[in-house]
Parts: sequence; C-alpha cells; structure tokens
Amino acid sequence: MIDRRTHWDTTYGTKADTEVSWHQPRPERSLAMIGSAISSRSAGLIDVGGGTSRLVDALLADGYSDLTVLDISEVALTRSKARIGADAARVDWIAADIVAWQPQRTWDLWHDRAVFHFLTEEAAQDAYIAALRRGTVAGSAVIMATFSLSGPERCSGLPVQRYSARSLAERLGADFALFAEAEETHATPFGTTQAFSYAAFRRR
Ligand SMILES: C[S@@+](CC[C@H](N)C(=O)[O-])C[C@H]1O[C@@H](n2cnc3c(N)ncnc32)[C@H](O)[C@@H]1O
Repeated sequence: MIDRRTHWDTTYGTKADTEVSWHQPRPERSLAMIGSAISSRSAGLIDVGGGTSRLVDALLADGYSDLTVLDISEVALTRSKARIGADAARVDWIAADIVAWQPQRTWDLWHDRAVFHFLTEEAAQDAYIAALRRGTVAGSAVIMATFSLSGPERCSGLPVQRYSARSLAERLGADFALFAEAEETHATPFGTTQAFSYAAFRRR
C-alpha cells in the first residue's frame, strides 16, 4: 500500500480539478457557514486539507487577511499558488500530514471539507483532534464537512468514515458545541452526486 502523501501527490499530479469528484467551482456552503461563524476580516482562518480548493481564492477576494492552507500534498499547494498568482504571497501554505502536525499558533476558524473522514483509525482521529485542540482556543469556530451517513463509503480510492453532524459532535467531544448543520448533495464534475454533512462548532 502506498503512503498517504504519495497517494495525494500522485492524484494531484495526474488529475485536473474537473477530474476529481470533490471539485467545486465555488464552495458556497463553506463560504456561507464561515460568514455566519465569524465577523472580522482580520480573523485567522485555516483550511485543513485545502488541496486545490477555490475556498482560499474566495476568502482573499472577500478581504480576509490572515489565511492558512494546509495539505499533505505539496503538489496540490503548488498548483493552488500558481492559480492564485501574486496574491498567494498573502497566504501561509503548510505542507504537512495533519495526523503528525503540531500547530505553532491558533486560528479563529478551522475549516475542513472532506479530510477528517479519511481517518478511519481511532489513533489517527485522536491525533487530528489533538491538532485541532492545539490550533484553536475557546471561541474558535470549527466547520467540518464529511460524507454523510448516506454518502459514499470510499473517496479517491480510499475508505472513509461517514458521519452525521451529531456523530461528528460526539467524536470531537464536549468541548466543541454544535451550532449549525446542513446536509448537502454535492454534484461531482462527472454528473454524479455525493451526500455530504456539514457541521459548525464553537469551541467551549
Ligand atoms: C477530498 S480532497 C478535499 C480537498 C478540499 N478540502 C476540497 O474541498 O476541495 C482531500 C484533501 O485532503 C488532503 N489530505 C488527505 N489526507 C491528509 C492528511 N493526513 N493531512 C493533510 N491533508 C490531507 C488531500 O491531499 C486532499 O487535498
């Protein structure tokens, strides 16, 4: 079995955005949830497993000034920087495996679409949650999207753990208070659909 980093570097090295199921031309649901979770454009935001998502483009255009994108794939981050051009210098880019990463600062908002659900082993989930706790403070917002209980069992050839907003809340623990949730049917670039569950938490 190839390691996680090689899997994702190979994926981003061989497939265009419109050739991966998770691609969104504009991540409307995430943007709406981020907009309702924080009010200041100077708030610190991190997109964990951002890949080549257009979320950072939209946040830059909206005037957010403290943006970080983390991904295990350097290939994905390089593609995003090239797409964004000069404004990429206004973003902190971190190439790291979230399971081994130790945040050196905290953020007001932590966003993750379709990353945590790849962690099917309890130890890896625990390591992610440890990073989440280290990278946030009381009052931080956490927005996470996973495949829902009726969503696919695999993505990018890998098994996933599916969640409802409630079961994700249970997994994150009592320090993360669920305050908004939404089910979304994502239309893939191939004309198929995937059931996602979005959940927004406030850290106590
Ligand atoms: C399904 S894609 C979603 C990308 C992006 N969040 C979006 O919504 O378009 C999953 C992303 O998570 C990244 N990823 C997977 N495992 C990771 C890990 N352990 N640490 C950091 N990033 C990871 C992949 O490289 C990929 O960019």
